[in-house]
Amino acid sequence: AARPLSGRKVVITAGPTFEAIDPVRGLTNRSSGKQGYAIAQALADLGAEVTLVSGPVFLDAPQGVRRINVEAATEMQAAVEAEMAAHSVDVAIMSAAVADWRVDNVATGKIKKAPGGAPALHLIENPDILAAVSKSGPLRPKLVIGFAAETSDLEANARAKLSRKGCDWIVGNDVSQDVFGSDANAVILFTRDSAESWERQSKRDIARRLAQHITRHFKAHP
Ligand code: CTP
Repeated sequence: AARPLSGRKVVITAGPTFEAIDPVRGLTNRSSGKQGYAIAQALADLGAEVTLVSGPVFLDAPQGVRRINVEAATEMQAAVEAEMAAHSVDVAIMSAAVADWRVDNVATGKIKKAPGGAPALHLIENPDILAAVSKSGPLRPKLVIGFAAETSDLEANARAKLSRKGCDWIVGNDVSQDVFGSDANAVILFTRDSAESWERQSKRDIARRLAQHITRHFKAHP
């Protein structure tokens, strides 16, 4: 098979993050990781050297992909930064559903139920990994791709996210339809000056299509 991405280094985040409340509890979300894992597989199949930084999911690591397991957003960010510091990364794809907030006052022991009320959780904002990677100066990957999960105004929200975060492409996802945990997805790929709709199809086919786009990009901009 043709391996047009051989020699290209890719970092992909996928899945949810898990933000601890205490040693036995945490905050997380419904991301299955399926779309990110499919992208990792599609790029590895084209010869890319892929590192997948994954939150907790119920999926096997794709063939030929190096997986780093993380839980919290801060760990995910550290793993991505370590990867970028270790070697020059060509493509970063941030598909993870990173928790926007984490618990500030994580309890060291299990919080016990006590008469007189429920504990208060104080939340603080997590770092924005996509924005940080997009603004990483000399280490910035040549191509930085984000995702935008929106329930309304997909085009306007995705375009705003593209410029706010400083990435190159955004995969816009209409999550008012059945997406979470599903094997199918419908997206719009936004670049700085174009938009392309991809009708509902398997996450594997979406991934292959994105991989083709990336291949074409590097043919045009070696
Ligand atoms: N993202 C990230 N780090 C965060 C939050 C988001 O890397 N702390 C990335 C996601 O992986 C995705 C993109 O940013 O590629 C958009 O995530 P989304 O949750 O849709 O955007 P938010 O920044 O949370 O914006 P909003 O709450 O306005 O939708």
